[in-house]
Amino acid sequence: MKAVAVAVFGGPEALGVVDLPEPHAGPGEVRIRVHAATVNPTDIGLRAGMYRARLADRKPPYVPGMEAAGQIDEVGRGADWQVGDRVLAIVLPTGPHGGAYAEQVVVPADSVVQVPTGADFVAASTLPMNGLAARQALDKLALQPGRTLGVLGAAGAFGGYVVQLAKADGLRVVADASEADEDLVRQLGADIVVRRGEGIAQRIRDAVPEGVDGLADGTLIDGDALPAIRDGGGLAVVRGWEGPSERGITIHSVRVSDYAHHQAALDRLREQVEAGVLTLRVARTFSSDQAAAAHRQFEAGGTRGRLVIEF
Ligand SMILES: NC(=O)c1ccc[n+]([C@@H]2O[C@H](COP(=O)([O-])OP(=O)(O)OC[C@H]3O[C@@H](n4cnc5c(N)ncnc54)[C@H](OP(=O)(O)O)[C@@H]3O)[C@@H](O)[C@H]2O)c1
Repeated sequence: MKAVAVAVFGGPEALGVVDLPEPHAGPGEVRIRVHAATVNPTDIGLRAGMYRARLADRKPPYVPGMEAAGQIDEVGRGADWQVGDRVLAIVLPTGPHGGAYAEQVVVPADSVVQVPTGADFVAASTLPMNGLAARQALDKLALQPGRTLGVLGAAGAFGGYVVQLAKADGLRVVADASEADEDLVRQLGADIVVRRGEGIAQRIRDAVPEGVDGLADGTLIDGDALPAIRDGGGLAVVRGWEGPSERGITIHSVRVSDYAHHQAALDRLREQVEAGVLTLRVARTFSSDQAAAAHRQFEAGGTRGRLVIEF
């Protein structure tokens, strides 16, 4: 089968189309004939060698990609799916079967849900990883309805889902945006929008003098976000920042791999797409031999909506 993979870690040019042995679904697994796989920051990391240690016991080439949509074409023993089901899945590229940038990927049956009614494979592929990460950030912050949540990187995939899910959870949302993204972030549901960039914590404090109850940071400013949060509040970080914290603020680390088997959460996201709560945003599609160009465009920044590789 055809896959996009990296043999030697490096820049976008390190990605190439390769022919790999056809994988097979074991017990409790399904194989998906992938039609769409998204480009995410973590794929850039894998390609550049950030997960070198985790891949140490595996032979190259390594296949990136944490999100796929397509049709089930093989069902392992005990997996409750049918050949032909139209599905999306969260994929763990450092796991035994590799990532989603491939014509076929094998995943656990509980990492899979139906494609939302009305969505095509390209749109559906943008849901699982960032949707689950956003859900996990909110679950960890555990704010009661009516509480105030700050969101940084609100125009991005993770941040955008956090804003939409937070509104559905009944929270008040204060989100950052550039001038160009302000309308987008308001449309996603933010109640208050403050200008993104340096000094953001103070601008949030100016808007919410008591401080937000929790904050989800998709921009990796980590500790610089703390001054925006009230004493005893929570900060959700996405790349494992461990502190030091201050004023009794709890640091919650989002690790979406912990939700890779949380099929109920993934299915709830599907329902929320169907209900119009969540918006699937696609910026552009690429063919598999254009994967390097997709990575180049993503790394240039400023992309709104996900870049999707079609297989
Ligand atoms: N731990 C996990 O399990 C997990 C899961 C999902 C995502 N993540 C992480 O979450 C982060 C966001 O992912 P994503 O897919 O949402 O990325 P994305 O779509 O590129 O969104 C990031 C957003 O933040 C903006 N931004 C970047 N740096 C900024 C800064 N210093 N100040 C203000 N805005 C800034 C970006 O703007 P520009 O495009 O203009 O730069 C973009 O709008 C990534 O680091 C990703 O690795 C972690």
